[in-house]
Amino acid sequence: MKIAFFDTKEYDKKVFNKYNEKYGYDITYFESKLNAETALLAKGYDVVCIFVNDNADALALKILEENGVKCVALRCAGFNNVSLADKGNLRVVRVPQYSPYSVAEHAVALLLNINRKIYKSYQRTKKYNFSIDGLLGFDIHGKTVGVIGTGKIGKVFIEIMNGFGANVIAYDLFKDENAEKELGFKYVTLDELYEKSDIISLHCPLTEETEKIINKQSIDKMKDGVIIINCSRGKLINTDDLINELETGKIGGVGLDVYEDEADYFLRDLSNEYKRDVDLSLLLSMPNVLITSHQAFFTQEAINKIASDTLENITKVMNGQACENEL
Ligand code: NAI
Repeated sequence: MKIAFFDTKEYDKKVFNKYNEKYGYDITYFESKLNAETALLAKGYDVVCIFVNDNADALALKILEENGVKCVALRCAGFNNVSLADKGNLRVVRVPQYSPYSVAEHAVALLLNINRKIYKSYQRTKKYNFSIDGLLGFDIHGKTVGVIGTGKIGKVFIEIMNGFGANVIAYDLFKDENAEKELGFKYVTLDELYEKSDIISLHCPLTEETEKIINKQSIDKMKDGVIIINCSRGKLINTDDLINELETGKIGGVGLDVYEDEADYFLRDLSNEYKRDVDLSLLLSMPNVLITSHQAFFTQEAINKIASDTLENITKVMNGQACENEL
């Protein structure tokens, strides 16, 4: 079986080659991202394997199907980049759960860094500057943390926040009342969450309903100095509104692992290039913004599971079997 991987990095090759020893599939690793222009690269392949910033839109899917591809295997959980309505006879699979801990723990890392200004402190102490002026944070203990999306990652994040002694409130389109009881948080309306939270962390998928859910109107309802963490999808936040509200001081700090227009920048080394995104550059220049490059998933445990589950999904689909991870 021939599999074309798109948007591949060295770590993909390393982990997939290891797990492919069991299967012996014929894998080609393309650096290009999948989109309508590059889809023809997959001619003659049975399966296409893609990641978060590939664009499997209607045209790309049509080209894949016309050229003999049978299966699109996402090596990630989110699937907002696949136009499922246009998949035709293609079978589409994903890895819905690999390590909710990886992403939840990264969200906490961003939160602690922003609140306690660890990155600023690190830059100072490196230069033998041991002043603590300007590094004042607040106790998370006793604060109200608002979680939007109480799925696998949101629940792990809530458990960690419970460990800090925070008061957790949450919003989800589909309430998990057992989790609410067991973890001791409280579901509230979105407006109440905005009004009461000192910290807001986003763990819902990108859908029509959640696109730009964080915007001028929702930020206006938030507490002054709120910290916002986004380890979910960049398009959950209206970047222009975020920048404006950071400039007014309404937002106290932001930790982002994802960015609205990340596709051309994230997961690549562009340090020697002149291409710059104006809004991203502005955010990076702000003292209370910390950005990581869509790395929340990136733990050894997570990538091992991504590789093993992706190859198992492909095996099931290509053997004509049912696959619980099919979309
Ligand atoms: P999940 O499917 O277990 O949970 C998502 C939750 O969001 C569900 O409880 C669902 O009911 C809720 N939801 C759906 N629509 C909503 C809405 N309109 N408002 C509020 N809640 C809504 O997914 P999981 O595994 O917890 O992942 C969450 C998101 O994290 C993924 O969709 C993906 O975008 C992102 N992610 C980011 C990664 C990274 O490396 N930065 C890695 C993995 C996932």
